Amino acid sequence: MPVILYANQLLEMGQVILTAAGATPREAEIVAAELASSNLVGHDSHGVMRLMQYVQLIREGHIQPGKDPEIVREGPAFLVVDAHFGFGQVASTWTMERLIEKARACGCSNAFIRNCNHVGRLGSYTDQAAQLGFAALMSVNAPGPGQVAPYGAMERRMGTNPISLAAPGNEAPVVLDMTTSATAEGKLRVAFQSGKSIPEGWIIDGDGNPSCDPGDYYKEPNGCILPLGGPLAHKGYGLSAMVDVFCGILSGSGVGRTDLPRGANGVWMELIDIEQVAGRDEYDQWMRQYEQHLKSARKRPGVEEILLPGEIERRVQATRTSEGVSIPDETWRQLTALAAELQVNIPQA
Ligand SMILES: NC(=O)c1ccc[n+]([C@@H]2O[C@H](COP(=O)([O-])OP(=O)(O)OC[C@H]3O[C@@H](n4cnc5c(N)ncnc54)[C@H](O)[C@@H]3O)[C@@H](O)[C@H]2O)c1
Repeated sequence: MPVILYANQLLEMGQVILTAAGATPREAEIVAAELASSNLVGHDSHGVMRLMQYVQLIREGHIQPGKDPEIVREGPAFLVVDAHFGFGQVASTWTMERLIEKARACGCSNAFIRNCNHVGRLGSYTDQAAQLGFAALMSVNAPGPGQVAPYGAMERRMGTNPISLAAPGNEAPVVLDMTTSATAEGKLRVAFQSGKSIPEGWIIDGDGNPSCDPGDYYKEPNGCILPLGGPLAHKGYGLSAMVDVFCGILSGSGVGRTDLPRGANGVWMELIDIEQVAGRDEYDQWMRQYEQHLKSARKRPGVEEILLPGEIERRVQATRTSEGVSIPDETWRQLTALAAELQVNIPQA
């Protein structure tokens, strides 16, 4: 029988483990909430399976609990933040709060975060901003060697460099949240831990050959994740390169660096106050019309419904909130072993 955990149990497990590993109660609360919400919306690759990685990163000094974010440059409509290698979720939440104030004052605002650890699921932050009346963008790069091969290459040079864009919709925000690579690395890890193969086109092995075995990504010589786009991967590659420029270089995190703690990211966030820029009533009218315009398109054979970006996640969230989240055996084995090592009790199924 698979282990099933509910939202409050996922949250408690994250808090207990992170606190035992050295996070402050406030940090543990923010990070655990982001991990639990990723599981709830169906992105297990960004859920509690990250606890093992985060504890490891704390032990190795890459995540430094207790480090407060600091503003290093600021204007009326922008800020540059140094996260000082604290938890990425904490720095992102802290920065978003300040960015909201600036967007309310100026109409639009931009933030760049340097030295920021893994932020988790980007759509969580943009969704929250959209619920407050903003059109929101968030993007993240990895200045380190990365996981993704540039178009035509067989060596890792770029991160999976995700982008999320969200805006208020009719019933709920429309939330695009996607990597600019063929897959997120976490999805390879989920497949690897579950002993499953992956679709063709996600990775190449260390010799540059297409592979459906996630193990080929991890074993020596390392495989690479491919840029998004299949035969048109030059477009995913181009998007990823520009994410490196906007997130990595504008934030001051840099690109192609091997001297930073592992996992250090550059982040770009932008908020647009819809009321000031477009007028909320007019915006809502257009969105009502637009959603209908998309959803009423004639469907291809076998397709039941045209979905909006973010709609799948919202549906999974409704189901998983009532039915719980199934934790893969290997993930559960690792979580219980970690809890035993840290001498804490975690919620049991
Ligand atoms: N923090 C980081 O460093 C980092 C790095 C990489 C990825 N991530 C996260 O990984 C997660 C997974 O990314 P992904 O690219 O694998 O996501 P995905 O491929 O599952 O989904 C991408 C987008 O497509 C939409 N979508 C999916 N099916 C759809 C359908 N049938 N019709 C219409 N829209 C549909 C989703 O709502 C989503 O907005 C994201 O939450 C991302 O933020 C984070």
